[in-house]
Amino acid sequence: MKIAVGADHAGFRIKDELKKRLAALGHSVEDAGTDSEQSVDYPDFAERVGRAIAEGRADRGVLVCGTGIGMSIAANKIAGVRAAVVTDPLTAEMSRRHNDANVFCAGARVLAPEKIAELLDLWLKTPFEGGRHERRVEKIRRLE
Ligand code: RB5
Repeated sequence: MKIAVGADHAGFRIKDELKKRLAALGHSVEDAGTDSEQSVDYPDFAERVGRAIAEGRADRGVLVCGTGIGMSIAANKIAGVRAAVVTDPLTAEMSRRHNDANVFCAGARVLAPEKIAELLDLWLKTPFEGGRHERRVEKIRRLE
């Protein structure tokens, strides 16, 4: 899968760990920054990852900030993005099965790095169920 990964200063460290993990799993990773722990504005990185999805350069996106919330709010402004804040195995699975989420958002100040990595693995391997959920996702598309 082609995966675009972005973070602000709060998520910078975990982004690098996730990148290595994704590459080791055979994914092609595009790094949208940031490149250090210097303070930056999370919407800039949400925009880069969201555009990579919208323009077809990435199949999925991963965004990490302090809570995951700012990244998800910003990324969801871009048509075609369905960003979900994932906090536990249930939200990882359901955001894929029911919402066909294409951007995984997590909070580096909420969850331990290993937990985020485990949830990302689960999220990536969980399929969209389709069926009645396809109709609902289509209704979301019509809001764009
Ligand atoms: C940065 O301090 C913080 O606001 C950001 O990482 C994120 O949590 C926003 O939602």
